[in-house]
Amino acid sequence: MGLRGRRGRLSGRREVVVESKPVPWKHGVVLVCMNERAPGAGKPSCGRARGTELKGWLKDALRAEGSAGAECRVLNSTCLDLCPDNGVAVAILPGDELLVVDPERDREALKERVQRQLGGRRGLLGRLRS
Ligand code: FES
Repeated sequence: MGLRGRRGRLSGRREVVVESKPVPWKHGVVLVCMNERAPGAGKPSCGRARGTELKGWLKDALRAEGSAGAECRVLNSTCLDLCPDNGVAVAILPGDELLVVDPERDREALKERVQRQLGGRRGLLGRLRS
């Protein structure tokens, strides 16, 4: 169920009530840009093929290690408004930076960054739950 609405008593304006659910992933999100612009577009784009390759590799690598990063979500994203000439834009959330990643050259460094950045969340959550 998405949005449901009802009328407020005093204003007569429609009040929208947004249903909320607990977040099923507790250890963060990695967004990988998959945006592909048409050839000749005025701006570069990360590209579907490179984004797909990087996302697939990252998910497999994180799962294989079975560490904190394995419990984060690695998701497709549209344009993250960075649009590098070379590489794929990646956001690790929570976080406040965008990364430009070469899917071949930088992927190990990206995996380590995810582990470092999101692994601490697992430690914090683990401490809070114990
Ligand atoms: S096309 Fe990837 S960040 Fe804009």
